[in-house]
Amino acid sequence: MKPIRKVVVPVAGLGTRVLPATKSIPKEMLTVVDRPLIDYNLEEAREAGVEHFIFVTGRGKGAIEDYFDHAYELEETLSAKGKTAFLDDLKARMPRAGEVSYTRQQRPLGLGHAVWCAREIVGEEPFAVLLPDEIVGGKPGYLKQMITAYEKTGGNLIAVEEVPLEETKKYGVIKPKADAKDGVVPMTGMVEKPDPADAPSRLRVIGRYILQPEIFPLLAKQGAGAGGEIQLTDAMDKLLADQDFHGVLCQGAIHDCGSKLGWLKANVELGLKREDIGAEFAAFLKELR
Ligand code: G1P
Repeated sequence: MKPIRKVVVPVAGLGTRVLPATKSIPKEMLTVVDRPLIDYNLEEAREAGVEHFIFVTGRGKGAIEDYFDHAYELEETLSAKGKTAFLDDLKARMPRAGEVSYTRQQRPLGLGHAVWCAREIVGEEPFAVLLPDEIVGGKPGYLKQMITAYEKTGGNLIAVEEVPLEETKKYGVIKPKADAKDGVVPMTGMVEKPDPADAPSRLRVIGRYILQPEIFPLLAKQGAGAGGEIQLTDAMDKLLADQDFHGVLCQGAIHDCGSKLGWLKANVELGLKREDIGAEFAAFLKELR
């Protein structure tokens, strides 16, 4: 079985659910406590053993590339002032040269199209997809949990969680073949943003996938689906005719930071966990109630 060495991170979206902040800041650069979302994504992928990060970007997303590059003036100033703790932290977060690739999704045609834009960089090997809006509170991260499942199942995997029936219309929803065993569910289908009446289950797709490269020719032919967009879910549903798919019920909270409430919850959960400010923050929250 080939290891998962590459992750595709689509970052071209407009972030309309968190306007007005995203008028001039990429959604992926919104901070949770003191780090941008994209930094949590990279940490999660690294923990899972991923070596190459492929960002599918768009116009106005330059801040993401700058974040993963050296900032000479800043580093020189920190060094001259002896602020070595900050400097060491910045350096530790830097990807190594050549570890990151960027390609542009030139038109907003949907998630399936964004993933397809990475095909030349991924090549003929299985790869992960990580949607940056969602960040994991605990350890190990979801991608690591999925790699552990992949080592047993092979094939294609999608992270899932159970949601109330009325919420299925916001997500991709899987059709299970059998009950979950050790948190892994064999699948027979999936559908993007179904009406609750048509939802094949209450297991919604979370933004973490492990996919085989045979998805790319299917994405190339995929027409528009839900919302008029080229949907990754539709192409995966086609691949399911030839290859195994499993849903993985990962452990630990995941926060949708592409929504205002999810972003606030992530700040509270991760803020409370911080050694430097957690206790004081907890006391403050108590006072508020
Ligand atoms: C995308 C996927 C959907 C998935 C969701 C998770 O939807 O198409 O299947 O459930 O991410 O966040 P989007 O949020 O881009 O509409």
